[in-house]
Amino acid sequence: MASGPGPTQDIEFTLNGKPVSRTASSRMLLIHFLRDELGLRGPKIGCDTGHCGACTVSYNGKTIKSCMALAVQADGAEIDTVESLAGESGDLDELQESFRENHGLQCGYCTSGVLMSAKFLLERNEKPTAEEIREAIHGNLCRCTGYVNIVKAISGAAHGDEGLALVERLNREHAKEVSA
Ligand code: FES
Ligand code: FES
Repeated sequence: MASGPGPTQDIEFTLNGKPVSRTASSRMLLIHFLRDELGLRGPKIGCDTGHCGACTVSYNGKTIKSCMALAVQADGAEIDTVESLAGESGDLDELQESFRENHGLQCGYCTSGVLMSAKFLLERNEKPTAEEIREAIHGNLCRCTGYVNIVKAISGAAHGDEGLALVERLNREHAKEVSA
């Protein structure tokens, strides 16, 4: 539905660099607005309770869980979703490419949210440690990967081969500690 029952509000905002002007139900969540009204299927709905991070988007330069915001709160904001990462021609950006190369995803359900959290981190910290990467994605739950390849992919995007070697060493040390 364009607006749903109940009060509505006209909103204008910037989505992935382009202006959007719509009428939104005052009760509609931002994640539903993005997916159902604007057709963006990148952000996912995992829990609707703010726990899983599958719905993570950038809101005025900071990551938010879009199931925790109302659509009308988009008014005047700049919002970026995972769809903003790839180029116009669909070429993957460096971060996405590193996820592909390092098998940073399996089912992919969590991936758009993880990518947005990783992008937020790398914009502020070009060379994060593995610990900083883990901290940055702590709000993004992944049921498939065990996070090892996610951390590797983000580290690879940040540090290149040096980052991959660093993460592999940390993983070996972690495995030794667990088995000791
Ligand atoms: S759907 Fe928003 S945090 Fe899970
Ligand atoms: S890749 Fe399946 S939930 Fe993360």
